[in-house]
Amino acid sequence: MLEALERIQQEALQALAEAEDADALEAWKTAHLGRKSPLMQVFPQMGKLPPEQRPLVGRRANEVRQTLEAAYAERAEVLRRQALAHALESERLDITLPGRRPPRGGLHPVTQTMRRIVETFAEMGFQVVRSREVETDEYNFQLLNIPPHHPAREMQDTFYVDAGGDSDTYPVVLRTHTSPGQIHAMRQVTGYTGEGPLPENPPPLRVVLPGMVYRYEQITARSEIQFTQVEGLAVGRNITFSDLKGTLTDFARRMFGPTARIRFRASHFPFTEPSAEVDVECFLCGGKGCNVCKYTGWLEILGSGMVHPVVLRNGGYDPEKYTGFAFGMGPERITMLRHHIEDIRYFWSGDLRFLEQF
Ligand code: DAH
Repeated sequence: MLEALERIQQEALQALAEAEDADALEAWKTAHLGRKSPLMQVFPQMGKLPPEQRPLVGRRANEVRQTLEAAYAERAEVLRRQALAHALESERLDITLPGRRPPRGGLHPVTQTMRRIVETFAEMGFQVVRSREVETDEYNFQLLNIPPHHPAREMQDTFYVDAGGDSDTYPVVLRTHTSPGQIHAMRQVTGYTGEGPLPENPPPLRVVLPGMVYRYEQITARSEIQFTQVEGLAVGRNITFSDLKGTLTDFARRMFGPTARIRFRASHFPFTEPSAEVDVECFLCGGKGCNVCKYTGWLEILGSGMVHPVVLRNGGYDPEKYTGFAFGMGPERITMLRHHIEDIRYFWSGDLRFLEQF
């Protein structure tokens, strides 16, 4: 019996050494320490032994059982550590690796230019006002002194909007310029609705109106059907052409550098009288002449003039007492000049290779 116990212990320990994982270990436990294991079979048989042998065999059987239980616990611990070491090895995180940067968006180059323009005028005391993109024909043209068959309409081919209702009598358009914002801004200040007597003493006004405009045109390298403008308007008593010149000169210096010069060329717009186009000294060559300014040293950047009396009146200002100046410029054009962009279509291309350069 004692020999049998030796053999049971030896075989069990040997089998235990071969258990390589938790499942094998559990199977081993059932086989060698379970109720039907050889060791456990020894206990019920002890009754058949001669009485003097029983204590000896009993003690030995208990020792074997304790040995196996201890060996089992030790093996379980070894396997647990191995499993942990394996997991640490295979699932290792290298926390010293630099993180991956999420891709960052940026402002569109035209938005950057537009904000720069608007901020510059804001520093000079202009309020920034938004105006609608869908306009009536009345605001986009008529109130700006462009009557129904005026040739200036041809310069601004128009997208018409089907707004329901009587669109023949009251056409609705996508604004072709930001100038209708002038009428909205004036009427907001004067409270004038277009009918009845002009208000008595409306306050002066100094605003810039940035925004998107639309033209029904062939898309080419030089013209798009959708682009931005920044409109400016100042109305008050005793405002003169000198104020226009001074304001735009100051703007050019702030925007293009302290030595930037500008020049005015006589022009025509229906909503200003007199009207002028404004050139800024080429900010790429400093006026010496380069291929961007076509060797003239000057770049045309905006249209301007003294607000036409009809427009002042439509805004609610009595043109006998009030005067004003206005101007309009195109951020696309300024952006193209600044960055040597040869084709306006890049701006709406959505091509990240282009956009990420700014
Ligand atoms: N509205 C004109 C255009 O779209 C630009 C312009 C010219 C605006 C002269 C003005 C101005 O306010 O005085 O071409």
